[in-house]
Amino acid sequence: MNRLGLYCSRCSARLPFRYHEMKCACGGTLLVDYDLELMTRTLTKEALQSRYPSMWRYRELLPVSTPDCIITLGEGWTPLVRMQEWEKKLPIKQLWIKREEQNPTGSFKARGFSVAVSLLKESGATKAAVPSNGNAAGALAAYAGRAGIEASVFIPLDCPPLIVEECPLYGAATYLVDGFIHDAAAIIEAGKQEQGWVNVGTLKEPGRVEGKKTMGLELAEQLGWTFPDVIIYPTGGGSGIIGMWKAYQELKAMGWIDGPMPRFVCVQEEDCQPIVKGIVAHGQAECAQAAREASPTGMRVPNPPDLAFILAIVEQSGGTAIALSKSQIAEATRTLGSQGISSSPEGSATWAGMLTLCDSGWLRPSDSVVLFNTSHAMKYANFASNSRLPIIRSYKDYIQYHSPQS
Ligand SMILES: Cc1ncc(COP(=O)(O)O)c(C=O)c1O
Repeated sequence: MNRLGLYCSRCSARLPFRYHEMKCACGGTLLVDYDLELMTRTLTKEALQSRYPSMWRYRELLPVSTPDCIITLGEGWTPLVRMQEWEKKLPIKQLWIKREEQNPTGSFKARGFSVAVSLLKESGATKAAVPSNGNAAGALAAYAGRAGIEASVFIPLDCPPLIVEECPLYGAATYLVDGFIHDAAAIIEAGKQEQGWVNVGTLKEPGRVEGKKTMGLELAEQLGWTFPDVIIYPTGGGSGIIGMWKAYQELKAMGWIDGPMPRFVCVQEEDCQPIVKGIVAHGQAECAQAAREASPTGMRVPNPPDLAFILAIVEQSGGTAIALSKSQIAEATRTLGSQGISSSPEGSATWAGMLTLCDSGWLRPSDSVVLFNTSHAMKYANFASNSRLPIIRSYKDYIQYHSPQS
């Protein structure tokens, strides 16, 4: 088995592997440690070429040790589309879009939940819960359904109705929360012991970061074992940035890539931009005020669980963070649509961010740039209604809703 244990991204402590914990005593985030030396002796780039086009082609770099426990719906190996026409108009060398909306469940969240739910199965867990702005809820619902695990998902009331409505279709107990994602998380923390839920929220267990790591592994393989100069990624809780940073570290340690780390650019919406504010304040992690005006997208995470870690990655890579207005994001959706690409507001924000960074001269004429379209536009269409689902504010409301009198 390649999985050695866990290590702390802050204090470097090493611990035995744990399924349901990702916080070190020092407050840092625990990450999965692998025997990379063994990997370089047993796995080759050539061997990978003949493998099935799925993120599980990197199974040796994923933490599931029992193959029978792998829960897959065909996630990963998404297209990397080159935007040649735009390269001619923009002051950059190469522009690519990683089409993550083509994953099962219509978003990149499929990657993290394929691994997280496989680990749940391996650990013998029977119930899981997630706080989510929508896509993570849909992904947990789908993968847990396939694994025979009971899923409960808690989603802010104003999140896109189509994404919400899909969750009960996958068989998940679905609750609308009158609040933000951290209010949804508080309900799960309050009830997890009593209800037997494993909390699979951002950075609560090791699988989701590892699944998202495959975005970086795949990108490197699709680009002939190189990384682009710049990765622009719509950031909320930050597990995608952490995962891709980890992919770079592991491939570098294995000697499979050389060259500098890609400059990571986090894009957010103006009304909720804790990462942008942290970068401006030079790494001073500061939680944002609740973002009442912000659109209910995956970027709306006022308090990322390890903001300091995200800021350190962005700074270490020479990257930056940038906030876009709602109108810039809407315009970008139309531009990408006119190129045949259906992009969610999050994916569109990467395009708007790229344009802004071209205008400011931050992007250089020699740069190759990859944008992550993390979900597609259709999921955000507004023609359904969530109103049949229970609306709760607290764990007390949850109990009340389930009491025989209600
Ligand atoms: C479509 C989409 N893009 C981006 C994000 C943010 O991703 P991360 O949590 O990796 O920062 C989310 C999270 O919900 C999302 O649903």
